[in-house]
Amino acid sequence: MRILHLTPELAPWSKSGGLGDAAAAIAKSVAALGHEVRVVTPLHGSVPGRLDLAVHRESLDVGLSPKSACRVRKAKAPGFEALFLEHEGLFGGAEIYGGDAVGKALFLTRAGLDLCLADGWIPDVVHVHDWTVALAPVLLNTVLRETPLARAASVLTLHNLQHQGLAGRDVLDRLGLPAWLMSADNLECLGGVNLLKGGLYHATRLTTVSPTYAREIAGAGYGFGLDPVIRHRAADLEGILNGVDADDWDPSRDTLIPARYTADTLAGKAACKTGLQRDLGLDPDPGIPLVGVVSRLWDQKGLDLAVEPLRQRLRAGKLQLALLGSGDPELESAYRALAESLPGRAGVRIGYDNRLAHRIEAGADFFLMPSRFEPCGLNQLYSMAYATLPIVRRTGGLADTVAPWSPGATESTGIVFEHADAAAIGWALDEALRLRHDFPAEFDAMRRRAMGRRFTWADAAPRYVACYAEAVRQRREAFPPEVSPQPSAGDVAQGAKPVRKRARKT
Ligand code: ADP
Ligand code: GLC
Repeated sequence: MRILHLTPELAPWSKSGGLGDAAAAIAKSVAALGHEVRVVTPLHGSVPGRLDLAVHRESLDVGLSPKSACRVRKAKAPGFEALFLEHEGLFGGAEIYGGDAVGKALFLTRAGLDLCLADGWIPDVVHVHDWTVALAPVLLNTVLRETPLARAASVLTLHNLQHQGLAGRDVLDRLGLPAWLMSADNLECLGGVNLLKGGLYHATRLTTVSPTYAREIAGAGYGFGLDPVIRHRAADLEGILNGVDADDWDPSRDTLIPARYTADTLAGKAACKTGLQRDLGLDPDPGIPLVGVVSRLWDQKGLDLAVEPLRQRLRAGKLQLALLGSGDPELESAYRALAESLPGRAGVRIGYDNRLAHRIEAGADFFLMPSRFEPCGLNQLYSMAYATLPIVRRTGGLADTVAPWSPGATESTGIVFEHADAAAIGWALDEALRLRHDFPAEFDAMRRRAMGRRFTWADAAPRYVACYAEAVRQRREAFPPEVSPQPSAGDVAQGAKPVRKRARKT
Protein backbone atom coordinates (compact mmCIF):
# COMPACT_ATOMS: atom_id res chain seq x y z
CA MET A 1 0.00 0.00 0.00
CA ARG A 2 0.92 3.63 -0.39
CA ILE A 3 0.54 5.51 2.86
CA LEU A 4 0.66 9.28 3.30
CA HIS A 5 1.17 10.64 6.81
CA LEU A 6 0.37 14.22 7.69
CA THR A 7 1.85 15.27 11.02
CA PRO A 8 2.75 18.54 12.74
CA GLU A 9 5.91 16.99 14.26
CA LEU A 10 8.34 14.34 13.10
CA ALA A 11 11.29 13.17 15.20
CA PRO A 12 14.19 13.67 15.00
CA TRP A 13 13.57 16.83 12.94
CA SER A 14 10.86 18.23 15.18
CA LYS A 15 9.32 17.08 18.42
CA SER A 16 7.41 18.65 21.30
CA GLY A 17 6.35 15.34 22.82
CA GLY A 18 5.56 11.76 21.96
CA LEU A 19 3.60 12.56 18.80
CA GLY A 20 6.84 13.33 16.95
CA ASP A 21 8.32 10.01 18.07
CA ALA A 22 5.18 8.03 17.32
CA ALA A 23 4.55 9.44 13.83
CA ALA A 24 8.15 8.73 12.80
CA ALA A 25 8.11 5.25 14.30
CA ILE A 26 4.80 4.25 12.70
CA ALA A 27 6.10 5.44 9.31
CA LYS A 28 9.38 3.60 9.74
CA SER A 29 7.95 0.33 11.02
CA VAL A 30 5.16 0.18 8.41
CA ALA A 31 7.71 0.93 5.65
CA ALA A 32 9.82 -1.94 7.01
CA LEU A 33 6.91 -4.26 6.18
CA GLY A 34 7.28 -3.33 2.51
CA HIS A 35 4.80 -0.47 2.15
CA GLU A 36 5.54 2.82 0.41
CA VAL A 37 5.36 5.59 2.99
CA ARG A 38 5.57 9.36 2.70
CA VAL A 39 5.42 11.80 5.57
CA VAL A 40 4.60 15.47 5.02
CA THR A 41 5.36 17.87 7.86
CA PRO A 42 6.27 21.55 8.26
CA LEU A 43 9.84 22.78 8.01
CA HIS A 44 9.75 24.35 11.47
CA GLY A 45 12.34 26.99 12.31
CA SER A 46 13.86 24.55 14.82
CA VAL A 47 14.66 21.81 12.27
CA PRO A 48 18.46 21.41 12.34
CA GLY A 49 20.17 22.30 9.03
CA ARG A 50 16.75 23.08 7.56
CA LEU A 51 17.84 25.18 4.62
CA ASP A 52 20.52 22.64 3.63
CA LEU A 53 17.91 19.94 2.99
CA ALA A 54 17.54 18.98 -0.68
CA VAL A 55 14.71 20.59 -2.63
CA HIS A 56 11.96 18.17 -3.64
CA ARG A 57 9.81 20.76 -5.43
CA GLU A 58 10.70 24.41 -5.93
CA SER A 59 7.12 25.57 -5.70
CA LEU A 60 3.85 23.95 -4.68
CA ASP A 61 0.55 25.79 -5.16
CA VAL A 62 -1.67 25.30 -2.16
CA GLY A 63 -5.44 25.47 -2.69
CA LEU A 64 -6.26 27.76 0.19
CA SER A 65 -8.04 31.06 -0.01
CA PRO A 66 -6.19 33.38 -0.45
CA LYS A 67 -3.98 31.31 -2.77
CA SER A 68 -0.70 30.29 -1.26
CA ALA A 69 2.49 28.43 -2.14
CA CYS A 70 5.57 26.89 -0.55
CA ARG A 71 8.81 25.13 -1.39
CA VAL A 72 9.10 21.43 -0.49
CA ARG A 73 12.31 19.95 0.86
CA LYS A 74 13.16 16.35 1.58
CA ALA A 75 15.38 14.46 3.97
CA LYS A 76 16.69 10.92 4.18
CA ALA A 77 14.51 8.95 6.53
CA PRO A 78 14.66 5.28 7.51
CA GLY A 79 12.65 3.53 4.78
CA PHE A 80 10.24 6.37 4.04
CA GLU A 81 10.26 9.76 2.35
CA ALA A 82 10.19 12.75 4.69
CA LEU A 83 8.93 15.91 2.95
CA PHE A 84 9.01 19.33 4.57
CA LEU A 85 6.84 22.33 3.70
CA GLU A 86 8.97 25.46 3.69
CA HIS A 87 6.93 28.57 4.38
CA GLU A 88 8.89 31.04 6.44
CA GLY A 89 5.92 33.26 7.35
CA LEU A 90 4.01 30.36 8.87
CA PHE A 91 6.58 27.80 9.97
CA GLY A 92 9.82 29.80 10.25
CA GLY A 93 9.49 30.26 14.04
CA ALA A 94 10.95 27.78 16.51
CA GLU A 95 7.62 26.97 18.19
CA ILE A 96 5.77 24.03 16.64
CA TYR A 97 2.36 25.15 17.86
CA GLY A 98 2.96 28.85 18.49
CA GLY A 99 1.84 31.81 16.36
CA ASP A 100 -1.03 31.31 13.92
CA ALA A 101 -1.71 27.72 14.99
CA VAL A 102 -4.90 27.34 12.95
CA GLY A 103 -3.36 28.96 9.85
CA LYS A 104 -0.45 26.52 10.14
CA ALA A 105 -2.83 23.59 10.53
CA LEU A 106 -4.91 24.47 7.47
CA PHE A 107 -1.81 25.01 5.37
CA LEU A 108 -0.24 21.70 6.36
CA THR A 109 -3.50 19.84 5.71
CA ARG A 110 -4.19 21.27 2.28
CA ALA A 111 -0.54 21.38 1.13
CA GLY A 112 0.02 17.74 2.12
CA LEU A 113 -2.85 16.67 -0.11
CA ASP A 114 -1.96 19.09 -2.94
CA LEU A 115 1.56 17.67 -2.96
CA CYS A 116 0.15 14.20 -3.75
CA LEU A 117 -1.80 15.60 -6.68
CA ALA A 118 1.16 17.67 -7.93
CA ASP A 119 3.52 14.67 -7.75
CA GLY A 120 0.94 12.24 -9.11
CA TRP A 121 1.60 10.14 -5.99
CA ILE A 122 -1.84 8.92 -4.97
CA PRO A 123 -1.97 7.14 -1.62
CA ASP A 124 -4.28 4.30 -0.68
CA VAL A 125 -4.47 5.70 2.83
CA VAL A 126 -4.06 9.18 4.25
CA HIS A 127 -3.04 8.77 7.89
CA VAL A 128 -3.38 11.94 9.96
CA HIS A 129 -2.26 12.63 13.52
CA ASP A 130 -4.28 14.78 15.95
CA TRP A 131 -6.17 18.03 15.47
CA THR A 132 -3.90 20.03 13.19
CA VAL A 133 -4.44 17.72 10.22
CA ALA A 134 -7.84 16.32 11.18
CA LEU A 135 -9.61 18.14 8.36
CA ALA A 136 -7.82 16.09 5.68
CA PRO A 137 -10.57 13.40 5.73
CA VAL A 138 -13.15 16.20 5.40
CA LEU A 139 -11.35 17.55 2.33
CA LEU A 140 -11.21 14.06 0.80
CA ASN A 141 -14.96 13.74 1.30
CA THR A 142 -15.85 17.16 -0.12
CA VAL A 143 -13.70 19.56 -2.14
CA LEU A 144 -11.31 16.83 -3.33
CA ARG A 145 -14.02 14.36 -4.34
CA GLU A 146 -13.55 15.12 -8.01
CA THR A 147 -9.83 14.35 -7.84
CA PRO A 148 -7.88 11.07 -7.92
CA LEU A 149 -7.35 11.47 -4.17
CA ALA A 150 -11.01 10.91 -3.45
CA ARG A 151 -10.60 7.14 -3.35
CA ALA A 152 -7.97 7.31 -0.62
CA ALA A 153 -9.19 5.97 2.72
CA SER A 154 -8.33 8.00 5.78
CA VAL A 155 -7.18 7.06 9.27
CA LEU A 156 -7.14 9.57 12.12
CA THR A 157 -4.95 8.69 15.10
CA LEU A 158 -5.88 10.33 18.38
CA HIS A 159 -2.72 10.95 20.37
CA ASN A 160 -4.47 13.37 22.66
CA LEU A 161 -8.11 14.42 22.74
CA GLN A 162 -7.52 17.48 24.90
CA HIS A 163 -6.30 19.61 21.99
CA GLN A 164 -9.03 19.93 19.38
CA GLY A 165 -8.37 23.06 17.30
CA LEU A 166 -11.24 25.44 18.00
CA ALA A 167 -11.45 28.05 15.27
CA GLY A 168 -13.78 30.56 13.62
CA ARG A 169 -16.16 29.62 10.85
CA ASP A 170 -13.90 31.42 8.34
CA VAL A 171 -12.00 28.08 8.27
CA LEU A 172 -14.66 26.89 5.84
CA ASP A 173 -13.99 29.79 3.44
CA ARG A 174 -10.23 29.38 3.71
CA LEU A 175 -10.54 25.72 2.66
CA GLY A 176 -13.43 26.27 0.23
CA LEU A 177 -15.61 23.88 2.25
CA PRO A 178 -19.39 23.83 1.80
CA ALA A 179 -21.53 25.64 4.36
CA TRP A 180 -23.50 22.51 5.31
CA LEU A 181 -20.43 21.33 7.25
CA MET A 182 -21.41 23.87 9.92
CA SER A 183 -23.72 21.39 11.60
CA ALA A 184 -23.52 19.59 14.93
CA ASP A 185 -22.73 16.25 13.27
CA ASN A 186 -19.88 17.75 11.26
CA LEU A 187 -17.58 20.59 12.29
CA GLU A 188 -19.73 22.93 14.31
CA CYS A 189 -18.87 23.46 17.97
CA LEU A 190 -19.98 26.35 20.18
CA GLY A 191 -20.76 28.46 17.13
CA GLY A 192 -17.30 27.93 15.64
CA VAL A 193 -15.44 25.08 14.07
CA ASN A 194 -13.77 22.14 15.84
CA LEU A 195 -11.12 20.66 13.57
CA LEU A 196 -10.76 17.39 15.46
CA LYS A 197 -14.51 16.84 15.48
CA GLY A 198 -14.52 17.11 11.68
CA GLY A 199 -11.87 14.41 11.47
CA LEU A 200 -13.73 12.19 13.93
CA TYR A 201 -16.86 12.26 11.79
CA HIS A 202 -15.18 12.00 8.39
CA ALA A 203 -12.16 9.67 8.75
CA THR A 204 -12.75 6.17 7.42
CA ARG A 205 -11.22 4.66 10.57
CA LEU A 206 -9.93 5.92 13.89
CA THR A 207 -7.16 4.72 16.12
CA THR A 208 -5.77 5.81 19.42
CA VAL A 209 -2.58 4.83 21.15
CA SER A 210 -3.75 2.38 23.81
CA PRO A 211 -6.75 0.10 24.36
CA THR A 212 -7.60 1.64 27.73
CA TYR A 213 -7.59 5.20 26.33
CA ALA A 214 -9.86 3.98 23.49
CA ARG A 215 -12.37 2.95 26.17
CA GLU A 216 -11.82 5.98 28.41
CA ILE A 217 -12.54 8.59 25.72
CA ALA A 218 -15.97 7.12 25.11
CA GLY A 219 -16.92 8.46 28.56
CA ALA A 220 -17.48 12.03 29.70
CA GLY A 221 -14.49 12.09 32.07
CA TYR A 222 -11.88 11.72 29.34
CA GLY A 223 -13.82 12.73 26.23
CA PHE A 224 -13.29 16.51 26.54
CA GLY A 225 -16.76 17.06 25.11
CA LEU A 226 -16.22 14.77 22.12
CA ASP A 227 -17.24 11.55 23.88
CA PRO A 228 -20.62 11.44 22.08
CA VAL A 229 -18.77 11.48 18.75
CA ILE A 230 -16.38 8.79 19.96
CA ARG A 231 -19.33 6.62 20.97
CA HIS A 232 -20.91 7.23 17.57
CA ARG A 233 -17.71 6.00 15.87
CA ALA A 234 -16.91 3.24 18.38
CA ALA A 235 -17.16 0.47 15.76
CA ASP A 236 -14.39 2.11 13.72
CA LEU A 237 -12.04 2.90 16.62
CA GLU A 238 -9.25 0.71 17.99
CA GLY A 239 -6.38 1.21 20.41
CA ILE A 240 -2.91 0.27 19.19
CA LEU A 241 -0.15 0.59 21.79
CA ASN A 242 2.90 2.71 21.05
CA GLY A 243 6.32 1.12 21.27
CA VAL A 244 9.96 1.89 21.93
CA ASP A 245 12.31 2.67 19.05
CA ALA A 246 15.32 0.61 20.11
CA ASP A 247 17.56 2.55 17.73
CA ASP A 248 17.10 5.51 20.07
CA TRP A 249 16.28 3.94 23.44
CA ASP A 250 18.43 0.92 24.28
CA PRO A 251 20.73 1.05 27.31
CA SER A 252 23.09 -1.51 25.78
CA ARG A 253 23.84 0.85 22.84
CA ASP A 254 22.93 4.33 24.11
CA THR A 255 25.88 6.71 23.61
CA LEU A 256 24.18 9.56 25.51
CA ILE A 257 24.48 7.83 28.91
CA PRO A 258 27.63 7.44 31.06
CA ALA A 259 27.78 3.60 30.82
CA ARG A 260 25.96 0.95 28.86
CA TYR A 261 24.19 -1.99 30.50
CA THR A 262 21.89 -4.96 30.04
CA ALA A 263 19.76 -6.99 32.44
CA ASP A 264 22.88 -9.11 33.10
CA THR A 265 25.23 -6.18 33.62
CA LEU A 266 23.26 -3.79 35.78
CA ALA A 267 26.51 -2.41 37.24
CA GLY A 268 26.50 0.04 34.33
CA LYS A 269 23.24 1.43 35.68
CA ALA A 270 24.93 2.30 38.97
CA ALA A 271 27.50 4.33 37.00
CA CYS A 272 24.60 6.10 35.26
CA LYS A 273 23.14 7.01 38.66
CA THR A 274 26.45 8.49 39.81
CA GLY A 275 26.70 10.38 36.51
CA LEU A 276 23.18 11.79 36.88
CA GLN A 277 23.82 12.89 40.46
CA ARG A 278 26.90 14.71 39.15
CA ASP A 279 24.97 16.23 36.19
CA LEU A 280 22.37 17.76 38.50
CA GLY A 281 24.53 18.61 41.51
CA LEU A 282 22.89 15.95 43.69
CA ASP A 283 24.70 14.46 46.69
CA PRO A 284 26.77 11.47 45.52
CA ASP A 285 24.87 8.75 47.37
CA PRO A 286 24.52 5.37 45.62
CA GLY A 287 21.99 4.08 48.16
CA ILE A 288 19.34 6.80 48.16
CA PRO A 289 16.34 6.14 45.89
CA LEU A 290 16.45 8.58 42.97
CA VAL A 291 13.13 9.51 41.31
CA GLY A 292 13.26 10.78 37.73
CA VAL A 293 10.78 12.88 35.76
CA VAL A 294 10.96 13.94 32.10
CA SER A 295 7.78 15.65 31.05
CA ARG A 296 5.82 18.45 29.58
CA LEU A 297 4.69 20.41 32.63
CA TRP A 298 0.99 20.73 31.82
CA ASP A 299 -2.13 19.73 33.71
CA GLN A 300 -2.35 16.43 31.79
CA LYS A 301 0.79 15.17 33.49
CA GLY A 302 -0.44 15.74 37.07
CA LEU A 303 2.93 17.01 38.24
CA ASP A 304 1.28 19.93 40.04
CA LEU A 305 -0.10 17.30 42.43
CA ALA A 306 3.36 15.86 43.04
CA VAL A 307 5.14 18.98 44.36
CA GLU A 308 4.06 18.59 48.00
CA PRO A 309 4.46 14.81 48.33
CA LEU A 310 7.91 15.10 46.79
CA ARG A 311 8.85 18.05 49.03
CA GLN A 312 7.93 16.14 52.20
CA ARG A 313 10.00 13.10 51.27
CA LEU A 314 12.92 15.15 49.95
CA ARG A 315 13.01 17.14 53.19
CA ALA A 316 13.02 13.95 55.20
CA GLY A 317 16.02 12.79 53.17
CA LYS A 318 14.12 9.74 51.90
CA LEU A 319 14.75 10.27 48.20
CA GLN A 320 16.35 12.43 45.53
CA LEU A 321 14.63 14.02 42.54
CA ALA A 322 15.91 14.55 38.98
CA LEU A 323 13.34 16.50 36.96
CA LEU A 324 13.52 17.79 33.39
CA GLY A 325 10.57 19.56 31.84
CA SER A 326 8.95 22.72 30.63
CA GLY A 327 5.50 24.16 30.18
CA ASP A 328 3.27 25.98 32.66
CA PRO A 329 5.37 28.89 34.04
CA GLU A 330 3.85 28.54 37.52
CA LEU A 331 4.74 24.88 37.71
CA GLU A 332 8.20 25.56 36.35
CA SER A 333 8.67 28.09 39.19
CA ALA A 334 7.34 25.65 41.78
CA TYR A 335 9.90 23.01 40.78
CA ARG A 336 12.71 25.58 40.50
CA ALA A 337 11.86 26.73 44.04
CA LEU A 338 11.85 23.14 45.24
CA ALA A 339 15.36 22.63 43.88
CA GLU A 340 16.62 25.90 45.35
CA SER A 341 15.27 25.04 48.79
CA LEU A 342 16.73 21.52 48.74
CA PRO A 343 20.18 21.68 47.15
CA GLY A 344 21.84 18.32 46.73
CA ARG A 345 18.48 16.56 46.96
CA ALA A 346 16.37 17.97 44.14
CA GLY A 347 17.89 18.64 40.72
CA VAL A 348 15.58 20.48 38.34
CA ARG A 349 16.24 21.57 34.75
CA ILE A 350 13.62 23.62 32.96
CA GLY A 351 13.87 23.21 29.20
CA TYR A 352 14.11 20.57 26.51
CA ASP A 353 17.23 18.38 26.49
CA ASN A 354 17.24 14.98 24.81
CA ARG A 355 20.63 14.02 26.25
CA LEU A 356 19.56 14.73 29.81
CA ALA A 357 16.28 12.85 29.16
CA HIS A 358 18.33 9.75 28.34
CA ARG A 359 20.55 10.25 31.37
CA ILE A 360 17.55 10.55 33.70
CA GLU A 361 15.95 7.41 32.25
CA ALA A 362 19.20 5.53 32.84
CA GLY A 363 20.31 7.05 36.15
CA ALA A 364 17.08 7.08 38.16
CA ASP A 365 15.74 4.17 40.23
CA PHE A 366 12.09 5.16 39.72
CA PHE A 367 10.30 7.25 37.11
CA LEU A 368 7.23 9.25 38.14
CA MET A 369 4.22 9.78 35.81
CA PRO A 370 1.17 10.84 37.85
CA SER A 371 -0.89 11.69 34.75
CA ARG A 372 -4.51 12.80 34.99
CA PHE A 373 -4.88 11.13 31.60
CA GLU A 374 -2.29 9.48 29.37
CA PRO A 375 -3.26 8.26 25.90
CA CYS A 376 -0.21 5.99 25.86
CA GLY A 377 2.93 7.56 27.28
CA LEU A 378 6.36 6.72 26.00
CA ASN A 379 8.45 7.59 29.03
CA GLN A 380 7.20 4.71 31.14
CA LEU A 381 8.16 2.40 28.27
CA TYR A 382 11.61 3.98 28.02
CA SER A 383 12.06 3.76 31.77
CA MET A 384 11.19 0.04 31.84
CA ALA A 385 13.66 -0.55 28.99
CA TYR A 386 16.26 1.20 31.20
CA ALA A 387 15.41 -0.84 34.35
CA THR A 388 13.95 2.28 35.98
CA LEU A 389 10.68 1.30 37.64
CA PRO A 390 7.72 3.48 36.69
CA ILE A 391 5.40 4.97 39.32
CA VAL A 392 2.21 5.67 37.41
CA ARG A 393 -1.45 6.48 37.77
CA ARG A 394 -3.71 3.73 36.46
CA THR A 395 -5.00 5.44 33.32
CA GLY A 396 -4.70 5.04 29.54
CA GLY A 397 -1.51 3.49 28.28
CA LEU A 398 0.02 3.58 31.76
CA ALA A 399 -2.62 1.07 32.89
CA ASP A 400 -1.94 -1.09 29.83
CA THR A 401 1.82 -1.23 30.18
CA VAL A 402 2.78 -1.19 33.87
CA ALA A 403 1.93 -4.20 36.03
CA PRO A 404 1.33 -3.17 39.68
CA TRP A 405 3.54 -4.25 42.55
CA SER A 406 2.43 -5.57 45.88
CA PRO A 407 4.66 -7.78 48.03
CA GLY A 408 5.05 -11.16 46.36
CA ALA A 409 3.51 -10.13 43.03
CA THR A 410 5.17 -12.15 40.31
CA GLU A 411 4.48 -10.11 37.16
CA SER A 412 4.93 -6.58 38.54
CA THR A 413 6.96 -3.95 36.71
CA GLY A 414 6.09 -0.76 38.62
CA ILE A 415 4.06 1.03 41.25
CA VAL A 416 0.48 1.82 40.19
CA PHE A 417 -1.97 4.10 41.99
CA GLU A 418 -5.59 5.06 41.37
CA HIS A 419 -6.44 8.62 42.24
CA ALA A 420 -5.23 11.88 40.76
CA ASP A 421 -4.38 13.57 44.04
CA ALA A 422 -1.43 14.33 46.28
CA ALA A 423 -2.33 11.65 48.84
CA ALA A 424 -2.25 8.90 46.21
CA ILE A 425 1.09 10.13 44.86
CA GLY A 426 2.48 10.20 48.40
CA TRP A 427 1.26 6.64 48.94
CA ALA A 428 2.87 5.51 45.68
CA LEU A 429 6.21 7.15 46.55
CA ASP A 430 6.12 5.40 49.94
CA GLU A 431 5.37 2.09 48.23
CA ALA A 432 8.39 2.62 46.00
CA LEU A 433 10.57 3.31 49.06
CA ARG A 434 9.17 0.24 50.82
CA LEU A 435 9.93 -1.92 47.78
CA ARG A 436 13.45 -0.53 47.55
CA HIS A 437 14.28 -0.94 51.27
CA ASP A 438 12.22 -3.89 52.47
CA PHE A 439 12.09 -6.08 49.38
CA PRO A 440 15.51 -5.75 47.72
CA ALA A 441 15.24 -9.10 45.93
CA GLU A 442 11.83 -8.19 44.49
CA PHE A 443 13.16 -4.77 43.49
CA ASP A 444 16.04 -6.40 41.66
CA ALA A 445 13.79 -8.97 39.95
CA MET A 446 11.38 -6.24 38.89
CA ARG A 447 14.15 -4.24 37.25
CA ARG A 448 15.16 -7.21 35.15
CA ARG A 449 11.54 -8.09 34.39
CA ALA A 450 10.79 -4.51 33.31
CA MET A 451 13.77 -4.61 30.95
CA GLY A 452 12.44 -7.84 29.49
CA ARG A 453 8.97 -6.45 28.79
CA ARG A 454 9.33 -5.40 25.18
CA PHE A 455 6.89 -2.89 23.78
CA THR A 456 7.98 -2.59 20.19
CA TRP A 457 6.85 -0.78 17.09
CA ALA A 458 7.32 -4.10 15.30
CA ASP A 459 4.24 -5.27 17.24
CA ALA A 460 2.27 -2.14 16.39
CA ALA A 461 3.12 -2.03 12.66
CA PRO A 462 1.07 -5.08 11.52
CA ARG A 463 -1.90 -3.71 13.45
CA TYR A 464 -1.65 -0.41 11.56
CA VAL A 465 -1.35 -2.32 8.29
CA ALA A 466 -4.48 -4.32 9.15
CA CYS A 467 -6.25 -1.09 10.02
CA TYR A 468 -5.21 0.44 6.67
CA ALA A 469 -6.42 -2.66 4.80
CA GLU A 470 -9.77 -2.48 6.56
CA ALA A 471 -10.01 1.26 5.87
CA VAL A 472 -9.29 0.66 2.17
CA ARG A 473 -11.93 -2.06 2.12
CA GLN A 474 -14.51 0.20 3.74
CA ARG A 475 -13.68 3.05 1.42
CA ARG A 476 -13.82 0.88 -1.71
CA GLU A 477 -17.10 -0.64 -0.60
CA ALA A 478 -18.57 2.79 -0.17
CA PHE A 479 -16.89 4.07 -3.27
CA PRO A 480 -16.29 1.33 -5.88
CA PRO A 481 -13.63 2.10 -8.50
CA GLU A 482 -16.05 2.13 -11.41
CA VAL A 483 -18.22 4.73 -9.75
CA SER A 484 -17.64 8.39 -10.34
CA PRO A 485 -17.33 10.61 -7.29
CA GLN A 486 -20.30 12.94 -7.46
CA PRO A 487 -21.61 13.33 -3.95
CA SER A 488 -24.50 15.30 -2.69
CA ALA A 489 -23.98 17.26 0.46
CA GLY A 490 -26.46 15.10 2.34
CA ASP A 491 -24.53 11.92 1.61
CA VAL A 492 -21.33 13.18 3.12
CA ALA A 493 -23.05 14.71 6.11
CA GLN A 494 -24.07 11.27 7.31
CA GLY A 495 -21.10 11.18 9.60
CA ALA A 496 -19.57 7.79 10.36
CA LYS A 497 -19.35 6.54 6.80
CA PRO A 498 -19.56 9.74 4.90
CA VAL A 499 -18.91 8.38 1.43
CA ARG A 500 -21.79 6.36 0.09
CA LYS A 501 -22.23 4.37 -3.02
CA ARG A 502 -23.24 6.51 -5.98
CA ALA A 503 -25.25 5.70 -9.03
CA ARG A 504 -23.16 4.47 -11.94
CA LYS A 505 -22.09 7.32 -14.18
CA THR A 506 -23.31 6.95 -17.73
P1 ADP B 1 3.61 13.42 25.65
O1 ADP B 1 3.64 13.14 24.21
O2 ADP B 1 2.24 13.53 26.21
O3 ADP B 1 4.46 14.58 26.04
P2 ADP B 1 5.03 10.87 25.94
O4 ADP B 1 5.47 10.15 27.16
O5 ADP B 1 4.28 10.11 24.93
O6 ADP B 1 4.22 12.14 26.43
O7 ADP B 1 6.28 11.41 25.16
C1 ADP B 1 7.12 12.42 25.63
C2 ADP B 1 8.37 12.40 24.80
O8 ADP B 1 8.96 13.69 24.86
C3 ADP B 1 9.42 11.45 25.30
O9 ADP B 1 10.22 11.01 24.24
C4 ADP B 1 10.22 12.32 26.26
O10 ADP B 1 11.51 11.85 26.49
C5 ADP B 1 10.21 13.62 25.54
N1 ADP B 1 10.32 14.81 26.37
C6 ADP B 1 9.32 15.41 27.07
N2 ADP B 1 9.80 16.50 27.71
C7 ADP B 1 11.11 16.58 27.41
C8 ADP B 1 12.16 17.48 27.77
N3 ADP B 1 11.93 18.52 28.57
N4 ADP B 1 13.39 17.26 27.27
C9 ADP B 1 13.63 16.19 26.47
N5 ADP B 1 12.68 15.30 26.10
C10 ADP B 1 11.44 15.49 26.56
C1 GLC C 1 0.44 12.26 23.12
C2 GLC C 1 0.06 11.63 24.44
C3 GLC C 1 0.98 10.52 24.87
C4 GLC C 1 1.34 9.62 23.72
C5 GLC C 1 1.90 10.44 22.58
C6 GLC C 1 2.30 9.59 21.38
O1 GLC C 1 1.20 13.36 23.20
O2 GLC C 1 -0.06 12.60 25.45
O3 GLC C 1 0.36 9.78 25.90
O4 GLC C 1 2.28 8.65 24.13
O5 GLC C 1 0.96 11.35 22.16
O6 GLC C 1 1.24 8.82 20.90
